[in-house]
Amino acid sequence: MILSPSLLSSNFGALATELHDLERAGLSWAHWDIMDGLFVPNITFGPPVVKSLRKESGLFFDVHLMIVQPERYIEAFADAGADMLVVHAEACTHLERTVAEIRRLGMQCGVALNPHTPLDCLEYVLDELDMALIMSVNPGFGGQAFLPFSVRKTRELKEKIVSRGLRTLIQIDGGVTPENAGELVAAGADVLVSGSAFFKFPPYAERLRAFMTAAAGAKA
Ligand code: DX5
Ligand code: ZN
Repeated sequence: MILSPSLLSSNFGALATELHDLERAGLSWAHWDIMDGLFVPNITFGPPVVKSLRKESGLFFDVHLMIVQPERYIEAFADAGADMLVVHAEACTHLERTVAEIRRLGMQCGVALNPHTPLDCLEYVLDELDMALIMSVNPGFGGQAFLPFSVRKTRELKEKIVSRGLRTLIQIDGGVTPENAGELVAAGADVLVSGSAFFKFPPYAERLRAFMTAAAGAKA
């Protein structure tokens, strides 16, 4: 299991320090929640912020775009140094083209689904994805309660991936804690995003250990 801490819950006034601290604590990924005030109510960071922090960090930048028409910014995020670019299926009219463009620019590609969006949306693009993101809260805010049906959705997606012989990662985002990490990993999750349940509980190395211990206890 990979833990990708959501910077949405970090100290925005000290992002460089936060990234250094994550790396020092043994984390390997950082999750950027990019919000445009349209797809979701909040506004967070844009490509220039990611680009300037790229110089500060060797972490894998997992960039979750919660913006309308994300195809407008693929190049900007490639230039900013995103390693993985995740777009929402609900925000893309031509999802296949957007996925192809992200890959053409050398980034890994993920597609996110809102809680109500069926897995069928991924039917014809799944083979092209490095990661599928199951939202386990309605996007827009940190600190919301986990939607329990996300566990079944994870299990069903894992079955699809295995039956096709793919290596697509499954990421779960929203309300993830050490309490539900075990059942999510048992259901097939590979990458867990955590914002509030991670950053509110320093030191980070210890919190990482709590998540990893929970994941290791996973039972199918
Ligand atoms: C929700 C974001 C999540 C969020 C997770 O809109 O996509 O990444 O920050 O935060 P927690 O873990 O607090 O639910
Ligand atoms: Zn996110």
